[in-house]
Amino acid sequence: MPPQRTRVSCASQDRRVTEKGYLIVQSVPAPDPEIEVLFTADQIAQRLDQLATSLGARLPREIVVVSLLKGSFMFTADLIRMLHSHGLICRVEFITASSYGDDTTSSGELKISGSGPRDITGAPVLLIDDILDTGRTLHWAAGSLRGAGADEVVTCVLLDKPSRRVVPFEADLVGFTIPDRFVVGYGIDYAQRYRELPYIGAMPG
Ligand code: IMP
Ligand code: MG
Repeated sequence: MPPQRTRVSCASQDRRVTEKGYLIVQSVPAPDPEIEVLFTADQIAQRLDQLATSLGARLPREIVVVSLLKGSFMFTADLIRMLHSHGLICRVEFITASSYGDDTTSSGELKISGSGPRDITGAPVLLIDDILDTGRTLHWAAGSLRGAGADEVVTCVLLDKPSRRVVPFEADLVGFTIPDRFVVGYGIDYAQRYRELPYIGAMPG
């Protein structure tokens, strides 16, 4: 059956299902004037397409995707649909990790909940996080997946703040490199707010 295309127009937003089958919510005015838009929905979608092209060339056809919740849920959902359009088959697993609490600075203490991914012995793993900041989370997560027997662990982050690194760690693929600003939107929160924004913006200060 050919891919279904629909177009829905509403007053303030333009939503469409693209030929690749994923939803783009086009740039809309910031509902909160305090938030400075850094990357629009269109810019994010374009960058994800490039990331998926690189990952498609680098990874084998069948992979395990390990997504770090909560901040990566939207990035993961969009990226795996683009990986599908590059022919990849993904088993998706989640780890819930938190280091920020309700603050805008890292507590330095990593809290992990849940039991983590099953049966990854010998598997190629794509580890996805929203932001690489101090490096503690990804350093721990990549080490833990290798310790659990993953064949290889390729890391992909949407945002990288290299100036904030405490633990030496570089991601294999980075969406956007940003300065030391506290950002929200596109799944990323401040005290559990702003995750629903279709763009990425910086909080004042
Ligand atoms: P790391 O262990 O310090 O690298 O922490 C990475 C995690 O901190 C990310 O997955 C986010 O959940 C959170 N984080 C880092 N910077 C920000 C930010 O600017 N806004 C919201 N969360 C952030
Ligand atoms: Mg996170």
